[in-house]
Amino acid sequence: MTGEDPTTADATQVVAIDGPAGTGKSSVSRLLADEIGAQYLDTGAMYRAASLAVLRAGLAPDDEDAVANLVSGLTIDLRDRDGDTVVLLDDEDVSTAIRAADVTAAVSAVAANAAVREQMVRLQQEVAQGRFVVVEGRDIGTVVFPDAELKVFLTATPEARALRRHRQNLANGTESDLDEVLASVNRRDHLDSTRAVSPLRRAEDALEFDTSDLTLAQVLAALTEMVQQRIGVQR
Ligand code: DC
Repeated sequence: MTGEDPTTADATQVVAIDGPAGTGKSSVSRLLADEIGAQYLDTGAMYRAASLAVLRAGLAPDDEDAVANLVSGLTIDLRDRDGDTVVLLDDEDVSTAIRAADVTAAVSAVAANAAVREQMVRLQQEVAQGRFVVVEGRDIGTVVFPDAELKVFLTATPEARALRRHRQNLANGTESDLDEVLASVNRRDHLDSTRAVSPLRRAEDALEFDTSDLTLAQVLAALTEMVQQRIGVQR
């Protein structure tokens, strides 16, 4: 990391939400940001945008040098549109394209690339600079914003997470098989938590919160309370 620490240099205030896929991170982070008057930053969307570019270029996601080289020439930007994150890849809105199954299958390999991570972390720190943000990801409390005002690590059993993803798929009209979703959840967990660079792990000072048996509204209420206690209400 170079330059000043963005979390202490100015008015930057960060709520870091980390945890594996399917814990309800995205839904609750978006709602929490709205509730407390902060901006929502979806860092997974950045890794997905890089992965989309890799696939479009016909590169193998695990070809480290070629991927690093390609991604270093990309411009990835996040914009807030009515509380939703719009992802721009070289000025093209790829918010929908980055959710495709082939991107999801490629993203763990791209996110394991050290050069890509370095670039994304820098970008995330720049986007948050001077703002009140809810930042969602895997390494936010450990690497990107180690001095975040509040760090939350969401967990849930693999079965609960797979069931949520399965229901989301069906609601989106996507074909879904629960056993396959569970296998995919376990595979991504393994890749994300065993990679050499910034593996998924809870920061020592993060509050761990198990969402398995809770509704979205209950998780939101608990997180809002944590923000109020740590940071105070902003509006
Ligand atoms: O949250 P998501 O499923 O959209 O994330 C996509 C992938 O990117 C996921 O495999 C983990 C990775 N990721 C990461 O390594 N670090 C982050 N800060 C965010 C996501």
